[in-house]
Amino acid sequence: MSTKLWGGRFTGPTDPLMEAFDASIGFDRRLWRADIAGSQAYARALGAAGLLTEAEAGEIVDGLARVAAEWEAGAFRIQPGDEDIHTANERRLTELIGAAAGKLHTGRSRNDQIATDVRLWLRDEIDRLAQYLRQLMGVAVERAAHEIDLLMPGYTHTQPAQPVRWSHWLMSHAWMWQRDALRLDDLRRRVNLMPLGNGALAGNPFPIDRAALARDLGFDGHTPNSMDGVSDRDFVAEFLFWAALMMVHLSRLAEDLILYSTQEFGYVTLADAYSTGSSLMPQKKNPDALELLRGKSGRVIGDMTGLLVTLKGLPSTYNKDIQEDKEPLFDAADTLSGALQIAAGVLSTLQTKPEAMRARLVSEMLATDLAEYLVRRGVPFRETHHIAGAAVRLAETRGVNLAELGLDDLRTLHPAFEADVSRVWGFEESVERRDAAGGTSRRSVEAQIAQLRAWLELG
Ligand code: ARG
Repeated sequence: MSTKLWGGRFTGPTDPLMEAFDASIGFDRRLWRADIAGSQAYARALGAAGLLTEAEAGEIVDGLARVAAEWEAGAFRIQPGDEDIHTANERRLTELIGAAAGKLHTGRSRNDQIATDVRLWLRDEIDRLAQYLRQLMGVAVERAAHEIDLLMPGYTHTQPAQPVRWSHWLMSHAWMWQRDALRLDDLRRRVNLMPLGNGALAGNPFPIDRAALARDLGFDGHTPNSMDGVSDRDFVAEFLFWAALMMVHLSRLAEDLILYSTQEFGYVTLADAYSTGSSLMPQKKNPDALELLRGKSGRVIGDMTGLLVTLKGLPSTYNKDIQEDKEPLFDAADTLSGALQIAAGVLSTLQTKPEAMRARLVSEMLATDLAEYLVRRGVPFRETHHIAGAAVRLAETRGVNLAELGLDDLRTLHPAFEADVSRVWGFEESVERRDAAGGTSRRSVEAQIAQLRAWLELG
C-alpha cells in the first residue's frame, strides 16, 4: 500500500521531479502552529459529533500538542514523503499515537484545512503588523508635536511652492497610514472566517457544529458556501493590496526623505544606524534603508499582481494553482514586518536641520500671499494673480528678491498696495494664515495631532 495520504487509487510511483514540484512543505511548514490548532479543534468537534470517543479525541489533541512541542523546539524532522504541512503533522501524529490518528481527517479535506490554516496564520500576522503600523504613526505624531515650530518649503512638482510646517508634512504621511490601518482592520474581518467543515468542495457529511468549531478557533463565524469556502483567496488578495499600497506609502515617505537628506536639500540627517558607506568613496553616507523601502515596494506590488494573475480564470473550487498563494503572501508579510519597523526606526532617529529648512524659504514662495493681500482689499483673485506674477517678473528683471521690491514699485502694479504690505513677507505669518481646517497653521496642525493621538489611543 502506498504511504501517501491519497495513494489508494494509484499503482505507479510518482516521478521524483514531480514530487519536488508538487511539494509545498518547504514553505508551508511555517503554518505548523495554525495547522495543529485547527486539527486539535477539529478533533474536539469530531468528539462532540460522536465520531470520536472522548478518549480518542483526547489522545489526538495531546498527540498534536507533542507534535507542536517538537516544532517549537526545532526537533520536528521532515521526512521525504511529507508533501505539505498537513501530511507532515498527520504522519508524525500517527507515529506518536498510532491508529487513532487515522480518524482525525474524517470529513475533512486538505482543501478546507489549508484555507483554515492560512486564515489563522494571517489573522495573527495582521495583528502584529497593525501594532507596527501604529508604532510608526506614533513616531510621526510625537515628532510632529515636538517639532511644531519648524518651517520648511512645501513642494508641488518638486518645485518650491509654499512654506509649510515640517509637522504638517509629517502628518500628511501619518494620515495615509491611518487609512492603511483602517483598511487592515477592515479586511481582518473578512480573513477571520472559518472554511473548516467545507470538506473538499461539497461540505461535511457528519454533524459537525461549525459555529462551535469557529468559536473554538477564535473565528468570527464560518464561510457560508463550501464551494466558495475552499477556493476563496480574496482575503489573500486584499491583504496583498493592503501591503502593496502600504509599501507605496512608505516608498513615497522614503523618496521625500532621500531628497531631504541630500547635500542639496540638507533638511535632515539620517542616523548612522540606517545608513551605509561606499566601498569606494570614503565621503559617502548612503540612505540605504530608505532606498530599500522604496525598492521593496516593487516586490510587494509583484506579490499582489502575481496572485491576481494566478486566481484569474480558475474554474470553480479548489485547484492546485491556489497553492501558489502562500509564497507571495509570506513574502509580503515578511517584507511589511521589516519595512514598518525600519520606517519607524528611520523616522524616530533622523535629525532635522531647522536652519537649512529656513535657508530655503525665499520670498518668491510668498507670491501667492502677495496676491491674497490684494484679495483682502477687494481685488478679484484672477487679477491679483496677474499682478503678483508681474511683481515676480519685475523682481527678476531687477535681480532682487520679491520681498525687496519697494512700495513704490508695487504701487506701479496696483494702487491698493499700502505700507502694511511688508507684513506679507513673514513665513511664519504666511503659514499661520492657512488656518482653515486641514491647513498648515499651528492651530490646524495641533488639531490634527490631537485627533490622531486620540485615535491611536482607541486603536
Ligand atoms: N498544499 C496544498 C495548498 O497549499 C494543500 C491543499 C491540497 N489539496 C489537494 N487536494 N491536493 O493549497
